[in-house]
Amino acid sequence: MKKKIALIFGVTGQDGAYLSKFLLNKNYKVYGIKRRSSIINTQRIDDIYKDINYKSNFLLFYGDLTDSSSILNLIKKTKPDEIYNLGAQSHVQVSFEVPEYSAEVNGLGTLRILEAIRSLNYQKKVKFYQAGTSEMFGRTKEKFHNEKTPFYPASPYGVSKCFAHWITVNYREAYDIYACNGILFNHESPIRGETFVTKKIIQGLIRIKDGYQKKLFLGNLYAKRDWGHARDYVEVMWKMLQQKKPDDYVIGTGKTFTIKEFVNKAAKQIGFKIKWVGKGIGEKAINVENKKIIIECRKRYFRPVEVDYLKCNAQKAKKLLKWSPKISLDNLINEMIEYELQHL
Ligand code: NAP
Ligand code: GDD
Repeated sequence: MKKKIALIFGVTGQDGAYLSKFLLNKNYKVYGIKRRSSIINTQRIDDIYKDINYKSNFLLFYGDLTDSSSILNLIKKTKPDEIYNLGAQSHVQVSFEVPEYSAEVNGLGTLRILEAIRSLNYQKKVKFYQAGTSEMFGRTKEKFHNEKTPFYPASPYGVSKCFAHWITVNYREAYDIYACNGILFNHESPIRGETFVTKKIIQGLIRIKDGYQKKLFLGNLYAKRDWGHARDYVEVMWKMLQQKKPDDYVIGTGKTFTIKEFVNKAAKQIGFKIKWVGKGIGEKAINVENKKIIIECRKRYFRPVEVDYLKCNAQKAKKLLKWSPKISLDNLINEMIEYELQHL
């Protein structure tokens, strides 16, 4: 039987790496698009390349979401059955520093893929997944967020992803493309980028414990996030593309914790006893054993506008896709710690 072909934009990112392995284990041929960088940016997928079981079914091409010609040529060349658009300038705070570029890659990049599918007349041949985000809900005041919750994005990143969401809906309705928006809440893993808060906390605390770092500097400790594991979430991306009809789904755990609660959980697992003192920007965590301050807040890590609260109601995915997250936050933290200890 002919192998299915998947084309992944953002293959070098956290989700790209997990999704590649997931699809290869499902016997897909996986083609990934990497952008040119001055030093090698394939660390997260090098193990796939080296693995003899995967090697011949995994191939990378240069391309960029800002470059229509590369997108068009690669879709034409690889003739995929499924396209996953995971490529993005994905850092919310950075999007305030590079708003135009974030919109260009995240918003127009999505349009470029859809337009390539349409202009190649591939709408009946290919299924498309768009990596949407709970950041699109932003400042919406709802206890739970689901597919009907209105968007109120609170960053250039969130706004750019709303464009990507609606252009995906629009191309589905206008041209009958099988296109789905996965509206995913935060998901982490040992290979999470180092400037996202979970990885930063775990890496920082382990370095402090082992004497490589003195302090960890954070921003807002009171924002709440619904954190899951990337391994669980790439499975549901694939599930969305295996349904009879394309649709949009929110994906999350239904549990939410503050950054401070995350720190407390991680510190406990690492073996720190910490005590919080002070308030606002002056809030600090002290290592009870030696009375040293190990965490402080810094203004530079606060955003111009914050998304205070995110909590998912993924009933639709549970019912229609038969999907629920399997990995708890405590187990996710444990896996991230183990990885960090091995790679210190
Ligand atoms: P990530 O680790 O930051 O990966 C982003 C990927 O996009 C990387 O492969 C990156 O390449 C690539 N990329 C950036 N600019 C590009 C461009 N101009 N052209 C082509 N590729 C480009 O993000 P992630 O956590 O895996 O997330 C995957 C997707 O899901 C993103 O779209 C993100 O916005 C979205 N999302 C993530 C979460 C989450 O919590 N992780 C939640 C909801 C939605 P380099 O490796 O070269 O930088
Ligand atoms: N990055 C970071 N660094 N965030 C901090 C820090 C810090 O030092 N201190 C506190 N925070 C707070 C942020 O203000 C935010 O409220 C929360 O920690 C989470 O920040 P990130 O881990 O950077 O993730 P995010 O929620 O902004 O965005 C991630 O999740 C989105 C889904 O909701 C990214 O993966 C996005 O790409 C994704 O769409």
